[in-house]
Amino acid sequence: MKFFLDTAMIDEIKQAKAWGFLDGVTTNPSLAAKTGRPFKTVAQEILKTAAPLPVSLEVVATDVEGMLEQARELYSWGKNVVAKIPMTEAGMQALNILKKEEIPVNVTLVFSANQALLAAKAGATYVSPFIGRLDDVGEEGMRLIEDAVRIYKNYGFSTQVLVASIRHPMHIVEACRIGADVATMPFSVLRQLFKHPLTDAGLKKFLADWEKVPGNPFEKVPR
Ligand code: G3P
Repeated sequence: MKFFLDTAMIDEIKQAKAWGFLDGVTTNPSLAAKTGRPFKTVAQEILKTAAPLPVSLEVVATDVEGMLEQARELYSWGKNVVAKIPMTEAGMQALNILKKEEIPVNVTLVFSANQALLAAKAGATYVSPFIGRLDDVGEEGMRLIEDAVRIYKNYGFSTQVLVASIRHPMHIVEACRIGADVATMPFSVLRQLFKHPLTDAGLKKFLADWEKVPGNPFEKVPR
């Protein structure tokens, strides 16, 4: 299971990398807006910080020519760029051209198994089903991950299922059980994965008991 960070915050990317848990980064226009900084500056900083790991940067054009132009521009910023293209008719047409240019594409805003099938048939490197947003409207987002993983396996598609719109740690566990390829998560969810109250309580007790052990070998002057 690869861990991508769903963020445009440089400090978060640096911390995830320092932990050794960073396999890539995904961004979107909403995350870019939260930084309050010019997009090109932020994107280039992310690319540099995450290199050589893949970084998904999203196009904002909605027509084929516009998407192609933006995807090529984004890709010129770094060879670790993955162009994020929405699941639309124009998006799939753009993908059909970009794959011939060997520009990797992450198909975003995927909410159904048929959309996931189209993205794979079109040759996407990644498909991003948004599970949290499906949960929000009363559907079971994780069923879409099961469908996508099964369909790709049945037909031997190489497109990677990138679980997006993750909201809590159980989304990660379930995505792993199903065998999804990648989970992109907010930094807050990555931090939650470390946590268990028994770990905190256990550490507290060990440290308290250590105080009762005679002769601390780690101190320069033994007590
Ligand atoms: O980056 C795409 C996706 O992960 C967005 O998540 O929380 O805005 O639904 P969210």
